[in-house]
Order: sequence, then C-alpha cells, then structure tokens
Amino acid sequence: MTLVGVAVGAALAIVAVFIPWLPDAASEQADIIDSVYWVVTIICVVVFAVVAGVSAYAVYKFRAPPGDMDDGSPIHGNTGLEITWTLIPAILVTGIAVYSGVALAQSEEFPPDRRTIEVTAQQFAWTFTYPNIEVEGGRPLTTGELVVEINKTIRFQITSKDVIHSFWVPQWRMKQDAVNGIFTQTTVTPTQPGTFPIICTELCGLGHALMRSQARVLSRADFDAWVEEQKRLAREGGSIQGKELFTQQCASCHVLADAGTQGEVGPNLDEALQGVDADFILQSIVDPSAEIAAGYQDGVMPANFGEMFTDPQLDGLVEYLLEATGGGAQ
Ligand code: CUA
Repeated sequence: MTLVGVAVGAALAIVAVFIPWLPDAASEQADIIDSVYWVVTIICVVVFAVVAGVSAYAVYKFRAPPGDMDDGSPIHGNTGLEITWTLIPAILVTGIAVYSGVALAQSEEFPPDRRTIEVTAQQFAWTFTYPNIEVEGGRPLTTGELVVEINKTIRFQITSKDVIHSFWVPQWRMKQDAVNGIFTQTTVTPTQPGTFPIICTELCGLGHALMRSQARVLSRADFDAWVEEQKRLAREGGSIQGKELFTQQCASCHVLADAGTQGEVGPNLDEALQGVDADFILQSIVDPSAEIAAGYQDGVMPANFGEMFTDPQLDGLVEYLLEATGGGAQ
C-alpha cells in the first residue's frame, strides 16, 4: 500500500507542479488570493488522500470472504474516533475562514492616492469613466477600454444600468458584481504591463458571451500620453476614433463586416444602414426608441450614448458607420 501510495503521489505531484493551473498573476491582490487558493487546495488534497486511503484500505482489508453470509459484528460507535473526526474538520474550516477573511481585508486595502474609475455595465458592453480626468466640455473621460497605470492602486466603483453583470480580469483575480442601483467596489494594483481580457462572469442575456473588453496596463508616461490622446480625440472626433468606439461599445450587439463584429442582439448594420443618412444614424444612436427596426424590441439598445460621449465622438462614430456601410456620399 505504501509503494502504491508513493507511486500515485509522485504521478500526481508531476501533474500538480508542471501544469500552469492559474492565469498569470498580474496584480498585488492576485498574490494574496493565490496564496489562499493554494493553502486551501493543499489542505483539501491531504484530507481527501487520508479519507480515500483509509476507505480503500478498509474495503480491501475487511471485505467478506466468498460465501460468507454472516451478519457483521455488532459495533456501536467509537466516541474517541467520532470526537476526533469532528474536531479536526471544525478546526480546519475555522482556520480557513479566518485566513480568508484576513486575505480579503488585505486585498481590499487601498492607499489615499489611489485612482478612482467608475465601471458601468450594461447589456452588453463595459464603459469606464475617469471622474478626475476632464475632456471636452468638462465631461469626465469615458472609454470602452480600460487603461491604467502600472503599480497604481485603482478603486473601481462598479454599477449596472440593467441586470446583474460581473466585472473580472482573470490576471488580476479580483471579481465583483455590477448591480443596478448601487455601487460595489473592488481594488486592484496592477503589477505587470500588458493587455488583459475583461470578462462578464454573470449570465446576463443573449450577448453575455460577447460582453468583453480589455484592460491595458501602461507605464506612467504612456498613460499620460494616452490621456492626452483621448482628450484630443474627444475634441476632434473623426472616423478612426469612430471605429474604435464602435468596436468597444457596439460589437457585442451588432454585425458590421468592416469592424469584423458578430453580435446578433441588434440589427445587422451592414443591412440596416443601407441608404440611410447621417441624421438617421445619429438619431438611432442617441435616441434608439425613436425608430425601432422591424423584428426588434424597444429598450434593448442603451439610450445613454448621447450622454456618455462628446459630440465630436458621436460625429466620428456616425462618419465611420457611413464609410463602413458604403454611405457617406454626401
Ligand atoms: Cu454582462 Cu454577462
């Protein structure tokens, strides 16, 4: 039994050590959470090995010989054993609860100089607002892609315009529900540069699987340059920025060949925008209830794009849609 145990243990150890089970850890909080994860996993593995080992041994050792039809011996409990197998799990579970509570409190800590970013979820897109960065017309900077500085703690204020969504960047580990009517919070300190996926992890409707965005972690200098570029774009608009806006905000609901998007929640724009003019497109974006495409319902398309984006940004989006669907001859 010892030999079998050692062989199986060695095989499992190879599987455990050589497969990268978790995504890269790219935030300070990820290290804390991974520690909890592995401590709990190791405790579970040990408990499982002991229980399964003793069970397998008992089944083999005390099995009835062939043809033995006797009743088993009349055993009635074992107080010492029962106290032991109640006490050990109780201590383990209490220990894990305390350890997790401490880790949770640590991962939610934030310094006074953190950056606040508002995250707004809606079917089926993410919007990020930087309340302390002003663009054209005194509006806060609003984007569909999350861009942050490395090693700067961010306090996310998360909410939803409709149903419950959930904000998650796997490499940062922190995950938080987006709930209509309240703000939930989470804290992240990115420690690695790069681009990471933002995933909605709460089933929220037809476009749930496509409700993705991305988080880009930049150096301080690159972040400042990005902010300046966003200010310029909010001032000037243009169809190149229109395309970017489209990919970030509209992709999960609309098909548009030029942008390579495949959402099927709303009308296929390659077809729906044939022969329409700029005024119709702008109205469809800022006041979607004004005219509903046949076969679609009112109230599905978000009605707040007009508030979220500056006029030059909206004009850029319209310009892009005209170009992409072969209109814009005027
Ligand atoms: Cu939003 Cu799933």
